[in-house]
Amino acid sequence: MTTKPLGRNADEARRMLEAVEKAGIFNGYLEDLVYTPKFIKALESVKSGALGRILWAKSRETHPGPHSDWFWDMEQAGGGCILDLGCHCVEIARSYIGKDIKPVEVMCWADTQVKPIEAEDHAIGLVRYENGAIGQFEVSWTFRGGLDLRDEVMGSEGTIWINSFLRTGFEMFTTGKGADYVAEKAESNTGWLFPVGDELNELGYNHMFMDMLNALESGQPPKETFYDGYVVNCILDAAYRSSKSKLWEPVQLDHWRGRVGVTRDSHLTSFDENHYLVKEEITHYGAKKLILKNKKTGKISEQILE
Ligand SMILES: NC(=O)c1ccc[n+]([C@@H]2O[C@H](COP(=O)([O-])OP(=O)(O)OC[C@H]3O[C@@H](n4cnc5c(N)ncnc54)[C@H](O)[C@@H]3O)[C@@H](O)[C@H]2O)c1
Repeated sequence: MTTKPLGRNADEARRMLEAVEKAGIFNGYLEDLVYTPKFIKALESVKSGALGRILWAKSRETHPGPHSDWFWDMEQAGGGCILDLGCHCVEIARSYIGKDIKPVEVMCWADTQVKPIEAEDHAIGLVRYENGAIGQFEVSWTFRGGLDLRDEVMGSEGTIWINSFLRTGFEMFTTGKGADYVAEKAESNTGWLFPVGDELNELGYNHMFMDMLNALESGQPPKETFYDGYVVNCILDAAYRSSKSKLWEPVQLDHWRGRVGVTRDSHLTSFDENHYLVKEEITHYGAKKLILKNKKTGKISEQILE
């Protein structure tokens, strides 16, 4: 088992994947943030179709920076916040969109805005998938205020917003008397605070190790394997290339085990023989209003149904 990221780059990750598979040994990728109780429940809703077609999945992880020296050294760590935090966000968005849907290309902005380091300390990226869905990551080592972990999922039939850490429903004020540990990467222990009741559980570690150990015992692969870590590294490599070229960069996957040739679903919802439905709404006086598009002429019109 290995924690994230699998490699400093896709080449290292591929070599690790090939080595464990050649040896025929168990491999688990410890990506805890796709095991949080909120994520698991949200993914069940997505899979049951409650959000319809997934159009956009955004994940954000930002905090004031890691705690050990080696993270800040490009050579040892392999990158900055794109690699350290983007790996979580990419796997979260990829899971909502569908791990069998191929990531095609990446556009990424990255900069070193605050810290005296070579690596990027702030980045935003878009990952385009073969079915037209967009994944987005927002990562930073310069964010002030704690550990901000949030997901937003937008589908044709619904929306999910999750705040996994900074707002778990527990708020406390203290003058600082008897101040104690608040939560990972909390920047203050006085004033208004947002403690986390059970960090290990909120961060998914219990569910993750349960899955890993059950899989190990039963001889089945866990939900997250080295293959997932490899795909994540391939996406992040494209992000690094894009941050330099300022262009959409293709995701280079030597091994792709998901579906191929998945076309974009039609966005045309038929209303009747002659019209597509653009939108349906209820007016302030309670009538139903339809916005329609003529299939032949393309003309947009509205109809009020009293
Ligand atoms: N899943 C998560 O949410 C999560 C959270 C934190 C860290 N991580 C990952 O865990 C890894 C470690 O991060 P950390 O914050 O615990 O770092 P850390 O610096 O606190 O700990 C690293 C440990 O590894 C030991 N070590 C270094 N080289 C070694 C070697 N060759 N053999 C044996 N031990 C060695 C060090 O002595 C140290 O105790 C990183 O890959 C990081 O990205 C994952």
